[in-house]
Amino acid sequence: MPTQTCPVDHNAASLGYQPFELDDPFPAYAALRAEAPVTFDERIGYWVVTRYDDVKAVFEDWSTFSSENAQAPVRERGAAARQIMDDGGFTAYSGLSARIPPEHTRIRKVVAKAFTPRRYKALEPTIRENVRTALAAMLARPERRGDLVRDLAVDVPTITILTLIGADVAMVPTYKTWSDSRAAMTWGDLSDAEQVPHAHNLVAYWAECRRLVADAHAHERDSLVGDLVRAQAAGDPITDHEIASVCYSLLFAGHETTTTLISNTLRVLLGHGDQWQRVVADPTLVAGAVDEVLRFSPSIVAWRRKALKDAEVGGVAIPAGAELLLVMGSANRDETRFPDPDVFDITRPNAREHLAFGFGIHYCLGNLLAKLQTRVVVEEVALLAPDLALVDDEPITFGPNLSFRAPLSVPVTWPAGAARTSRPSDTEGV
Ligand code: HEM
Repeated sequence: MPTQTCPVDHNAASLGYQPFELDDPFPAYAALRAEAPVTFDERIGYWVVTRYDDVKAVFEDWSTFSSENAQAPVRERGAAARQIMDDGGFTAYSGLSARIPPEHTRIRKVVAKAFTPRRYKALEPTIRENVRTALAAMLARPERRGDLVRDLAVDVPTITILTLIGADVAMVPTYKTWSDSRAAMTWGDLSDAEQVPHAHNLVAYWAECRRLVADAHAHERDSLVGDLVRAQAAGDPITDHEIASVCYSLLFAGHETTTTLISNTLRVLLGHGDQWQRVVADPTLVAGAVDEVLRFSPSIVAWRRKALKDAEVGGVAIPAGAELLLVMGSANRDETRFPDPDVFDITRPNAREHLAFGFGIHYCLGNLLAKLQTRVVVEEVALLAPDLALVDDEPITFGPNLSFRAPLSVPVTWPAGAARTSRPSDTEGV
């Protein structure tokens, strides 16, 4: 039986929680975990859940807590934006994350069959080459100043996912613009007027997803969309609209959060010089470091669920129909699961228990691809630019958003002559 029907006197605002402000949300998360771990925040209309066990339990219980609200706009769409989207034939729906069983089970099975490690592991040499090219271009700057987000983290995962899907890699900047619009329109706090240009972008984005499916029907394509169209022809139960929706999801989820993970991994490692030096000396530490970054500074700090029936979370009664905000950014710093949670430690034994990729039936389909790409970036930077350093006097800020915590820039510098122009193995012993 629930022990409380309403939270204790503390409300989220009095504990310093500002849902859209992500520069440093961690002190407020800690206060929520201690004082009001399951609390209704009337400013956003969500029950905010911050303890590890509670967040994980809600993710796990998909028959009580549905993901159907995961892609719903946090702020209602304005009339002008709605009109633009209706007129433009925008009927995109979540590929997977906001679908529920049995539909989710059916589509996930078809997509998982196509989205195999075989398909993306084959891309590792290309990913590595793309990283080297981007890194060389940055290190060639005479002013010895770069921005890891702009110079390294944006293009690499975007080229990867566009290549996998079979989209045109010349459209990387366009997809980035469309993705920014998608993040702002769904998880942002925009006024009606601010929504208008983004609504146009979403119409164009969805039209391109439908075109990709039509193209894969018309021509044999060696791509994920090609695989899905062939699976459909062979009898797998998936419609063209569903394939286009999967493209709409992957062409956003497949790079946006990886751009952030790459930026955060380098930002946090360079900010902990001793641990960066250990990674430089021993690349086998990279994989653990990436998991620790996912725990310490996850790309997505909060994700949503909806209660389908009266329920209880952490001893608090949650009525049917209530919406929940699962704060993984807080769960990952829960002291009952991770000792000294605010300490960044690349050898933390249980870092992989983080909830950065969710948990349960919707567990992130692209988690291995995201980690593979981040590992390759860190390996290459450690090898070719081990003396890279953060520009200390430039504070790093994060865009305002309910869910996506992305650094806007990560300014770096390097000493003259420090950057290697080739890998040691390219010149030694030949
Ligand atoms: C650092 C990178 C990434 C993070 C932090 C991340 C995070 C997440 C989270 C939190 C979820 C929701 C899980 C849940 O509801 O339990 C999710 C789902 C998903 N992610 Fe990722 N993701 C990342 C990269 C990727 C990549 C690279 C792809 C694809 C190429 C991808 C594809 C998906 C898909 C398709 C789903 C929906 C799965 C389902 O509902 O069955 N993600 N991801």
